[in-house]
Amino acid sequence: MMKRTKMCGEVTKKNVGETVVLNGWVAKIRDFGGLTFLDIRDRSGVCQIVCNESDMKDSEFSKVLSLRNEFVIAVKGKLALRNPQNINKKISTGEVELLADEISIFSESDPIPFALDDPNINENVRLKYRYLDLRRPVLQHNLMIRSKVCKIIRDYLDANGFIEVETPMLGKSTPEGARDYLVPSRVNPNTFYALPQSPQLYKQLLMIAGYDRYYQIARCFRDEDLRANRQPEFTQIDLEMSFVDQNDVMDMAEGMIKEVFSKILGLKFDSKFLSITYKEAMDRFGSDAPDMRFGLELVDISDIAKNSSLGIFVSAIENGGSVRLINVPSSVATLSRRDIETLVDFVKIYKAKGLSFIQVGENGEVKSSLSKFFSEKQMSDILKRANAKSGDVLLVCADKNDVVFASLGALRVHIANKYGLINKDEYKFCWVTDFPMFEYSEDEKRYKAVHHPFTAPSDLFLDDLENKKAVATAKAYDIVINGQEAGGGSIRIHNKKVQERVFRILGLSEDDISNRFGFFADAFKYGAPPHGGLAFGLDRLIMLLEKVSSIREVIAFPKTQAAADLMSEAPSKVDKKQLDELYIALKNVENKKD
Ligand code: AMO
Repeated sequence: MMKRTKMCGEVTKKNVGETVVLNGWVAKIRDFGGLTFLDIRDRSGVCQIVCNESDMKDSEFSKVLSLRNEFVIAVKGKLALRNPQNINKKISTGEVELLADEISIFSESDPIPFALDDPNINENVRLKYRYLDLRRPVLQHNLMIRSKVCKIIRDYLDANGFIEVETPMLGKSTPEGARDYLVPSRVNPNTFYALPQSPQLYKQLLMIAGYDRYYQIARCFRDEDLRANRQPEFTQIDLEMSFVDQNDVMDMAEGMIKEVFSKILGLKFDSKFLSITYKEAMDRFGSDAPDMRFGLELVDISDIAKNSSLGIFVSAIENGGSVRLINVPSSVATLSRRDIETLVDFVKIYKAKGLSFIQVGENGEVKSSLSKFFSEKQMSDILKRANAKSGDVLLVCADKNDVVFASLGALRVHIANKYGLINKDEYKFCWVTDFPMFEYSEDEKRYKAVHHPFTAPSDLFLDDLENKKAVATAKAYDIVINGQEAGGGSIRIHNKKVQERVFRILGLSEDDISNRFGFFADAFKYGAPPHGGLAFGLDRLIMLLEKVSSIREVIAFPKTQAAADLMSEAPSKVDKKQLDELYIALKNVENKKD
């Protein structure tokens, strides 16, 4: 075998005159009859090869003529400087070329189903031939960055006394959170393992077992609706620490993020990340993952609107909801009637019944269908509160709080994207703290844990948790980068009695507890240290670093929106024999619910 002496992207001016062997894929062929230019590609880049019939043996040049794109070859030759007019500044090897002497063909390639440099390949085709898609330099770059990030994280956590421990993939189903992926057990018919949604229980057990600081780059599985930043199997950088409070965990995680962003992107940090409470995040941005790269903050006018004569506003407030607005200043956009109407349609996706609007004319006069329901004083108070100036448009939403927040929170981002308010080169990091401890589920008619059932309540609510369910906050925190939840965690309950109280508030009976996580509850009988932790979504972190909008661009073999692998065709039917071994009988799917 003609072994390489250099990677294709490595050769530079410094190597001119050296005899070099390159191995790689033929990326491009330009045949000028007697003179053929090849591009040869490997993970590190491309190098131009010059095959000149007059300088090569016939046996070698005939091999050149048989080459096609994506053949895998070795080339030996002398490295030379390119003519000045042929220099390509865009690539690292653009000043040099290899004058081929010998060629060896390792393997041939059929014509591939798409051109690797075509930017508009249908994604389903890319996913079906993912091994070809993965040859594209942009994907190779993403995966190399991903590998580098893992190394930085491992080094950082190792230096801070964390040890890496693997936890099981086949575990117990503990229904709370997303839907589990189940795996039937052959040895124990009619029973199932669940693939882990996260290593949460195990990492806490490791704290109880005295491991002090744990981390794992852990695969997690959640059978939930997929979005641009969600995959059914994804990777967490999962960590847990003993004898710590909330600030210790946040400082450690923040240090790790700073290390990653400074080593990969060269960002400099001279202060702590901003930290705001969940309540402030919702009030100001309508979201618990606020994008702080732009303004357009929400303004609460409920106190003014409650005295108006507009029934829907008044009743929204009386029913515990609110009236809030966003001011779209004329410096951002001059909104026409039609523009406003499309924004009204936009918020309907978020269940808002509509948007009212107030236009401020050139001389400060108000043009709004709301005018007749508000006194002049009330209207001028609204304009003052919204800091409205001539030409501005205020978009007003009245509803239950969750609808108002979801609608205006999404509208804010929509407007910022539409009118180019986001500086794509900027990164804004922020902590969101003091999440609610519980949320009421109308469907299940019970309180559910907002984070998970092992999250500690804030000290303020500990004594009277049972009576303060609706307002209690938790020692839970998320880290948000450019409006994306990149990670989240909490301080855990380490006191068995508190844990039992929380289980009770969640409506879990003794039986439920012992069936679902009895082993876990039991462990707290035997000495649990105060502990807490956090998990980052590794895939999301790479998306943010690489500024890509689809999570599939940072995962080697991702699934589609329908949770399918188009390449291997998983999930797929299995043999009857396999099902029989598992005691599983299939049902007719005609009545399948979507
Ligand atoms: P949580 O559920 O918030 O916390 O998950 C932590 C982080 O994982 C990422 N993430 C996802 N990424 C891609 N696809 C998904 N389907 C997906 N779901 C979540 C997010 C999220 O911030 N055990 C706790 C952590 C803890 O308390 O220590 C947990 O799993 O970036």
